[in-house]
Amino acid sequence: MAGHDFAQPMTARKSGPLKGVAEIPGDKSISHRALILGALAVGETRVTGLLEGEDVLGTAAAMRAFGAEVTRHGPGAWSVHGVGVGGFGEPADVIDCGNSGTSVRLIMGAMATTAMTATFTGDASLRKRPMGRVTDPLSLFGAQAYGRAGGRLPMTVIGAADPVPARYTVPVPSAQVKSAVLLAGLNAPGETVVIEREPTRDHSERMLRGFGATLSAEKTAEGHVITLQGRPELRPQEVAVPRDPSSAAFPVCAALIVEGSEILVPGVSQNSTRNGLYTTLVEMGALIDFENAREEGGEPVADLRVRFSPEMKGIEVPPERAASMIDEYPVLSVVAANATGTTVMRGVKELRVKESDRIDAMARGLEACGVTIEEDEDTLIVHGMGPGAVPGGAVCASHLDHRIAMSFLVLGLAAKKPVSVDDGAPIATSFPVFEGLMAGLGASIARDNQ
Ligand code: S3P
Repeated sequence: MAGHDFAQPMTARKSGPLKGVAEIPGDKSISHRALILGALAVGETRVTGLLEGEDVLGTAAAMRAFGAEVTRHGPGAWSVHGVGVGGFGEPADVIDCGNSGTSVRLIMGAMATTAMTATFTGDASLRKRPMGRVTDPLSLFGAQAYGRAGGRLPMTVIGAADPVPARYTVPVPSAQVKSAVLLAGLNAPGETVVIEREPTRDHSERMLRGFGATLSAEKTAEGHVITLQGRPELRPQEVAVPRDPSSAAFPVCAALIVEGSEILVPGVSQNSTRNGLYTTLVEMGALIDFENAREEGGEPVADLRVRFSPEMKGIEVPPERAASMIDEYPVLSVVAANATGTTVMRGVKELRVKESDRIDAMARGLEACGVTIEEDEDTLIVHGMGPGAVPGGAVCASHLDHRIAMSFLVLGLAAKKPVSVDDGAPIATSFPVFEGLMAGLGASIARDNQ
């Protein structure tokens, strides 16, 4: 799990019209949560549509290490025999979370209020990422954490033997931090309160309620206040995981910039904590029809009909929208490069602590492809060149970051010269069927040296 043995260079070339139906796999955030809450329920949770990407498989392995029985029955069909809140057993070995920040942060939360010791590590990308944002609030429950300088992995967490509930205001917009606190609160007596100034993805809250926890959420002058009653008995559920809007972003953005394209992407989440990219694209002039709005797996979804959009204009993306599209800025910057005029993305400094420093990774790669960029600590500005006008012809570094790799491959589909990435192997962490799906639409993306 701790990284791929070999880099896999890949190249995307200018493609003819993308056509067809893009069947996107299950949502990564919801898949992690289904496995973790299934492991904390008493009895058997059944999951369909689980994302079988490396990140989620890492969470499945970790839940086994803490004592849950996790079984695969067929594609996307899994069951979890849970051990109940407070029922985790001490893992016999180090928990390797690979590339996945969601795995390590949520699982640290889930074990922090049980008397046991667990050591976590990950790949070279995850070992650079800050864990103090999670271990600080976990210390309020009585847990202790010992890691490398700067709160980096490997890190050992000693769960609180006698946990107390916590009240915590999350200092950065982060659903992972919010979720870690809520999961820790499950095994603390009394009320745990998390306050977020800006709402972030609410899958943990929705799913905790679904599993039978008592949880309230209200908007106050302090922000968004979420209150969880500790020590519930979680009831096993049937979870139908909806498709991942963050993965859908790649074929959607590809169709917008490749001349003559028209694709259908069924069942894309319209959850307002996740759909900021789609709002932004429509504001830019993207031709997207939202058809057949309905509910699937407890999430509002629609089928997206997406057409080549040569009239897209650069816009100023409102900073308050950042949390609802935080994983989509890399591919938005690719669309922005193919739009006319300037796109300004402010309030995005969280991008610097993702799987890579995504502002720097996109800025350097876009520049290498001939696009003019401006950046500061909290801002990325892309000067659009118009439809199909990006020169391309560069090898871009993906920095062990799946979304950076996929973004540059999308760029190559509409650039004048091919665009390569030095390593496409990390794509398997979140979107293992990316290559086949894109090829099915007519995209020219190939592995090099094969
Ligand atoms: C996630 C939250 C976000 C997001 C990540 C998944 C989650 O991270 O970037 O891909 O499932 O809670 P932050 O909480 O760091 O913003």
